Amino acid sequence: MSTSIPTLVLGGSGYVAGELLRLIAAHPRFELTAVMSDSRPGELVAHAFPHLASAYGDTRFSSQAVIEDHVTHLPAAAVFSAAPHGAAAALIDALLSKAAAAGTRARVVDMSADFRYRSVQAFESNYRQAHAAPGRIGEFTCALPEHLATLATEHVAHPGCFATATLLAAVPLLALKLARARLFVAGVTGSTGSGRKCVEGTHHPLRHSDLYAYNALAHRHVPEMQACVRAACGAEVDIAFVPHSGPFARGIHVTVQAELTAAHDSAHVLAALRSFYAHAPFVRVLEQAPRVKDVVASNYAHLSAVANGRTVAVLCVIDNLAKGAAGGALQWMNRMFGLPETAGLTAPAPGWT
Ligand SMILES: NC(=O)c1ccc[n+]([C@@H]2O[C@H](COP(=O)([O-])OP(=O)(O)OC[C@H]3O[C@@H](n4cnc5c(N)ncnc54)[C@H](OP(=O)(O)O)[C@@H]3O)[C@@H](O)[C@H]2O)c1
Repeated sequence: MSTSIPTLVLGGSGYVAGELLRLIAAHPRFELTAVMSDSRPGELVAHAFPHLASAYGDTRFSSQAVIEDHVTHLPAAAVFSAAPHGAAAALIDALLSKAAAAGTRARVVDMSADFRYRSVQAFESNYRQAHAAPGRIGEFTCALPEHLATLATEHVAHPGCFATATLLAAVPLLALKLARARLFVAGVTGSTGSGRKCVEGTHHPLRHSDLYAYNALAHRHVPEMQACVRAACGAEVDIAFVPHSGPFARGIHVTVQAELTAAHDSAHVLAALRSFYAHAPFVRVLEQAPRVKDVVASNYAHLSAVANGRTVAVLCVIDNLAKGAAGGALQWMNRMFGLPETAGLTAPAPGWT
């Protein structure tokens, strides 16, 4: 009989944590031990997430002290951090220090930006705040599971949602030397990409039935994407990224355009993408343009491509909360605990969200 793996979640009442709790509820091995809430310790999880009441009817959010106590008593725990950047590094550092002192082992997948950088300076110049745990940066690898065969560190930093869609589209082009290393990327995200806290620019009346760009050519995730491309295939890439707010709650659509190194037709590029992702269980390469609704609430990424002369456009859709955060993190944690990478993640998209 397989035993369950104790699981801790940080950043408890946020959207990504909610999605993690949903996925963990159906997972064959990871079992929730406790979920930390900074703002609502003691409150029922079902108050924050009524849609999860059937799975977590009596479960209450725990304080940081309770989570730290768990980590000192569990010989091996899976820790997912869905806390915001800045807060995540301090929480994780405290937890790992307690585990080390107690002689236990906690393996972390962090979904914030805190451990995506290889240097403190790069993080601090982009996020304009001091890094809370610079000594731990070397303990994390930032990559997509599709682009890294063997994990050499104890912990993982998830690259993020826009980065996941962009990297899935861009890395094959560069790794296979199909395209020049100057990418023009347009991304459209749903409103859950902005998190639970309502602010003016992400408020439903402003976002619904509308489409607009923001932070054009100045988005702070670009250096993170560039670092992931470098790590995945050694290419130094220039990325001109224009993110957009889409009038839907979940999902991301990314279009990556580039100049081909030689003229190819669409069939050639599609065949190259298919071959590149032949062993990637969550990536599907389609003939037709991929649609957000076909992947929403699933861990799948749908890709397609069109080539005309020396121009290529690769299209990618994912769910920002699933493949772009909680699902991608669970995919990594499966690997880190020696489970099949697909465990608990193969449910198809519902289709009519
Ligand atoms: N939304 C996405 O599509 C997406 C995709 C990829 C990555 N991410 C990353 O995943 C993380 C969570 O994103 P989200 O969209 O779920 O954000 P969110 O809805 O704003 O949730 C973050 C949660 O973290 C907790 N928190 C806030 N401040 C904290 C602090 N100072 N110390 C400890 N905990 C604090 C809060 O929950 P409690 O008060 O209950 O602890 C909050 O609800 C972020 O780092 C984000 O950048 C998000």
